[in-house]
Amino acid sequence: ATNRTFTMIKPDAVEKGHIGGILSMITEAGFRIVALKLTQLTVADAKEFYAVHSERPFYDELVTFMSRGAIVAAILEKDNAVEDFRTLIGATNPADAAEGTIRKKYATSMGENAVHGSDSDENAAIESAFHFAGREQF
Ligand code: CMP
Repeated sequence: ATNRTFTMIKPDAVEKGHIGGILSMITEAGFRIVALKLTQLTVADAKEFYAVHSERPFYDELVTFMSRGAIVAAILEKDNAVEDFRTLIGATNPADAAEGTIRKKYATSMGENAVHGSDSDENAAIESAFHFAGREQF
């Protein structure tokens, strides 16, 4: 079925000038962009967005990283969007990411891994609502 996922181009990839390259890979893979903005997470936003990871040893590093600069937030639509987008982005650790994936091409490390993709339809809806009002979704 056609459904939606949520993505962020993370600060590492924005800093390196990869917004255009990553959006090209996304649209060439058949995703339709239905919401898009350049924005920045506050420390409080990043803590809330990643609350599920709050007990992990990398949580503080993750919050600092994700709030340090501009990100691109977007909602994407496609058949099987959540699963297909996770395939397109590749493994969390770029050393394990398959050829042709966004992280293989653009990620730096396990933490600074260029892109986020929702892990379920439920989280896609929560994350989309965190960033976009209804009138910003097309
Ligand atoms: P993502 O899977 O999008 O969401 C959780 C993030 O936590 C992950 O991307 C990485 O950015 C970060 N992360 C996961 N594991 C580690 C780790 N071992 N060290 C630092 N950051 C990590």
